[in-house]
Order: sequence, then structure tokens, then C-alpha cells
Amino acid sequence: MSSHQPNQQNQQNQQNQQNQHQQHQPAHAHAHAHGHAHAHGHGHAPAADLDWDALAAYLEQEADLRAGAVTEAARWLAGLAGEGAVRRVLDVGSGPGVIAGMLADAFPAAEVVAVDQSPALLERARTRSGGRLRTQQADLPAEFGKLGEADLIWSGNAIHHLGDQQAALTALGERLRPGGLLAVAESGLPPRFLPRDFGLGRPGFQARLDAAHEDGFSAMRAELPDATEEVEDWPAMLRRAGLTPSGTRTFLVDHPAPLARPVREYLHAQLDRRRDQLAEVLTAEDRATLDALLDEDAPTGILNRPDAFYLSAMTVHTARRP
Ligand SMILES: C[S@@+](CC[C@H](N)C(=O)[O-])C[C@H]1O[C@@H](n2cnc3c(N)ncnc32)[C@H](O)[C@@H]1O
Repeated sequence: MSSHQPNQQNQQNQQNQQNQHQQHQPAHAHAHAHGHAHAHGHGHAPAADLDWDALAAYLEQEADLRAGAVTEAARWLAGLAGEGAVRRVLDVGSGPGVIAGMLADAFPAAEVVAVDQSPALLERARTRSGGRLRTQQADLPAEFGKLGEADLIWSGNAIHHLGDQQAALTALGERLRPGGLLAVAESGLPPRFLPRDFGLGRPGFQARLDAAHEDGFSAMRAELPDATEEVEDWPAMLRRAGLTPSGTRTFLVDHPAPLARPVREYLHAQLDRRRDQLAEVLTAEDRATLDALLDEDAPTGILNRPDAFYLSAMTVHTARRP
């Protein structure tokens, strides 16, 4: 279910694109950022290789793209939690804190704490927020105890980096005050950014790229410490964590063509990462298509083609501590 009004969404898109324009970096700045970052969020590189600090700008761009969806999700959470009741908010696995900043806007009376393993990303979060955000470095799952209590805990695309996702949900639930809310943004839909047939190679390229990426995601998870296979039924997992599910909603991320340059650069960086991660498993034809999309000068490249768009969806699962 998505709840954006198209006009509001377009205004939001334009605003986002303007914001991104002020922050954008050339595509080649991201071209060799290895590791794993994502819209849905997964890469082929083993977890041990992840260099989150190198992905800071990429993570910021990705979060900026989702600004409209996150703002709408935060409004929903404020309604569920009762805004006045929220005195302390944690964003667990916050990265550089873009989304934590949006939560701070949505809960102006609350202390909002960005939590991450990376001191460098937390420093970016502090700088970006002009001191509005507090930060807490924590290596999870070992340091869940550092988080303190909260009325609202948000975690977006971070729990899937922990080997035992069920144990992580249980630990987060234990940090909630009675009546507090846990909101987990996981799953959703992978992005689409071109028509099914975009005139290069065999139609259906993006679906094949996604399929290869899903296998890479499983391989990444299998490499994590304490890797535990889990049927990823998030409401059921939240229930097993001792919480009471209070609804799942999905928010559209919709940036229509023609795309602003910073969104194109984000897509270029993402495709470049896919080239690194998946080249060996793609067919020669799909590799050639990927290379054509990555060509910075060609009119068919993702930086230049008029038909590129960005469409995705963010799913948020919520549950309350009894
Ligand atoms: C894909 S990013 C998500 C960033 C942000 N939540 C967002 O949605 O834009 C995952 C974040 O989880 C953090 N992370 C990964 N493993 C972690 C761990 N074991 N303990 C704490 N943070 C971790 C990374 O540093 C990174 O910032």
C-alpha cells in the first residue's frame, strides 16, 4: 500500500532533487566504492569486506531519495506512538544519519540518537544535523546494552547485516519502554529505473540483475557471524521477540523521468557496484548492457538517457512492547 498523493510526491521529488544537487558528487567519486549499500540493500561482497565509511556519500544519496517516503512513515509512526509520548528515539544502524535527521524533524520534542558501528559515519551525522542529533557508537549485537531505553526505535536496512536477525529484534524490543514502538524498515521492493525494454540487449535486464543480486544477498548473509537462516516474516519475528505487531505499511519512492543529475549519479554508482559484485554471474550480453549503461559519455548511458526514472518502495513493520 502506498499513500503518496502524486502532486505532493512530485513537489517532494523536486525538493529532494534540489537538495541532492547541493550535495552531489561526480559519478566517478563513487565508481570504486566497494562493499555493499543499496536501496533494498544487498550486495555480493562478503560482509567481512564491507567498508561502510567509504560508502558514506552513497548512503546519504540513497537516504535522500527516500526522504518523501520516510517523512510519511514518520508521520504514521507519530500517530501510532502518540507524538507527545515519544521522549527518546533510536535509529539503529543509522549510517550517516540522514534518516535520523528526518526522525528528529518528525519528533521535535524527543532526543534522537543515531546508533552505528562507524565513528566516521556518526561524525557525519552530527555535522549534518548541526548538533541536533546525539550519537552512540555500538558494535552490534555485542553492544546492544549501550543503547539505553527508548519510546521509539527505528532500524532501516541494518538488521539484515546481523547474523541472527531474530535475536536482534528481541534485543531491540528489550530496549523499549512499556508501550514503546519498534519500526523496522526491511524488505520493500528493489528499485526499477528503466523500462522493461530500453533498447539495449534482451528485455528484462533489471529482473535478471535483481535475481543475481538476491543470490549475492544470501551469500553475504551466510558469511555473517552467527548467521542464522530465518523465514523473513517480519511480523512473526516481531511477535517472537515478545512484541505485539501494530501494522505494516509500504511507502512509494517515486522519482519520475527526467531525472536530476544527482539521482543519475546515484544510479551510476549503484550499477558500478553491481558490475563489481555480479560480473561473473551475468551473461556476456547482460555485462555488455551494464557497460553501456555505465558509459559516462554515451547517450544510452544512465547519466544521459531521457527515459531513466527511479521507482521503489520502502516497507515498515511495526510492533509495540506490551
Ligand atoms: C545499509 S546501511 C543503512 C543506513 C541507514 N539506516 C539507511 O537506511 O540509510 C547499514 C548500516 O548499518 C551499520 N552496521 C552494519 N553492521 C553493523 C553492526 N554489526 N553494528 C552496528 N552497526 C552496523 C553500517 O555501519 C551502516 O551504517
